[in-house]
Amino acid sequence: MEPLAFSLLLLWPTLVSLNGAGDGTWARFASLPYPEDNLFLHATFPEGFMWSVGTSAYQTEGAWQQDGKGVSVWDTFTHKQLSANGDVASDSYNNIERDISAIQTLGVTHYRFSIAWTRIFPDGLLSSRNEVGLRFYSHFIQRLRDIGVEPIVTLHHWDLPQALQDRYGGWINETLVDRFSEYARFCFEAFGHRVKYWITIDNPYALAWHGYSTGKLAPGINGAPRVPYTVAHNLIK
Ligand SMILES: *[C@@H]1O[C@H](CO)[C@@H](O)[C@H](O)[C@H]1NC(C)=O
Repeated sequence: MEPLAFSLLLLWPTLVSLNGAGDGTWARFASLPYPEDNLFLHATFPEGFMWSVGTSAYQTEGAWQQDGKGVSVWDTFTHKQLSANGDVASDSYNNIERDISAIQTLGVTHYRFSIAWTRIFPDGLLSSRNEVGLRFYSHFIQRLRDIGVEPIVTLHHWDLPQALQDRYGGWINETLVDRFSEYARFCFEAFGHRVKYWITIDNPYALAWHGYSTGKLAPGINGAPRVPYTVAHNLIK
């Protein structure tokens, strides 16, 4: 799983950046000054090595209220406590073809992205199913396959439906184990014939600790000492 370490969340402080802000990063690596740059060529890696880049839904999709998407704890958290938010982000939701061609240009073999639970199930429960959200991911997965890039899908990259936070207290409540399991099973059935790599929950440590103890990340709870451990336990289950 090493290539996945490039996951954008490692760049946490750059949660939101302006369009084109990444250009400088690419420029820095455009012509490395030392001969060792040859070590980075594809040819020196074993056959079948997984070259991947990755994103999370909240950090890239934007379109936070578009086409029936529900509100997630990250929408609420950024609107309440941060000066920046992912309302638009890199507007990936409305620019699939642009992103597909960017992925193609990078020459990767795999692309990791996450499904926004609230796009398929606006209030988190199966009964709230939103066909537009479902078609969005179905189409995106198809476009990846069209260009020969294998999708790696994260089911939950922290953007819990706000409705599940309000109704149950979020991951503190063991009920979430069943709600997540229903959602996961639905995704496996809907996309499983075209998706062979799945990641269940991104970085559960950060979610449990910073979401429910330090309050630095959504849902921003400063829980009692045992709260993050209960959350972690539920995430593991
Ligand atoms: C979990 O949610 C149910 C239903 O709302 C509630 O009755 C129960 O108290 C919650 N448990 C915790 C630990 O918050």
